[in-house]
Amino acid sequence: MKNPLIIANWKMKLAPQEAIDLAKKVKKASTKYKGAEVVLCPSFTELAEVGKIIDATGLKLGAQDCFWEEQGAFTGEISPKILQEYGVETVIIGHSERRTSLLETSQMIHKKARLVLSLGMRPVVCVGESFDERQEGLKDSIIIRQVHDALNGIWLNKMDSLVVAYEPIWVIGSGQDCDPEEIEHTHQVIRQALYDLFTEQVVDEQVKIIYGGSVDPENVSNYLSHATVHGVLIGTASWDATTFSAVVAGAIKP
Ligand code: PGA
Repeated sequence: MKNPLIIANWKMKLAPQEAIDLAKKVKKASTKYKGAEVVLCPSFTELAEVGKIIDATGLKLGAQDCFWEEQGAFTGEISPKILQEYGVETVIIGHSERRTSLLETSQMIHKKARLVLSLGMRPVVCVGESFDERQEGLKDSIIIRQVHDALNGIWLNKMDSLVVAYEPIWVIGSGQDCDPEEIEHTHQVIRQALYDLFTEQVVDEQVKIIYGGSVDPENVSNYLSHATVHGVLIGTASWDATTFSAVVAGAIKP
């Protein structure tokens, strides 16, 4: 894949100083990241510091979530408008950990995606099936429904860009590889679901479909060798600068 998108999801894994140290190390290594678009998503509390560290490098700043209103009495929530002021361009939305632990609904995810786009930012809408859903043969229908629920009725303007991340829930954090043929199939299913909502031209030019779930330095080039996979969303392998740089190297390998 030419210029793959690589999103580092630091989750709630790092203490403030650890996040700062990691950002500094990633910055140092980033001279070797040419040929990839790399986005770091620290916790909200580290956005300002990490943003300063990576300023004027090719690295971009992302967030792990946001609220669906721009402003108001919403205790504890973070507006994408505020994130934007910190330099955030990309926002992960509807991660399965939030769908499960915080009972985020498809309606919430839809409202978040809509607001993020309306502010000229890029949502990364996460979709994926559980192990049981897969065993019951429901995978494709679940994925189609998640894509439709998140994006139905949303209009993409010419300058907008959108990312859909396919993350099988049973692979996240497991260290397991996913069969690249299966990923390719699911990416085709996602593309077809997107064609229900947007024109082919919009999907082909403005939407990236990426893969996440135990991506590591060994499996990344295999996943990205499929033309339907435009990038990767990385958890575990992004929490150590050496491992993360090895993933980036594997992703940009000719
Ligand atoms: P993982 O996490 O790389 O640790 O599987 C991916 C994710 O949750 O986005």
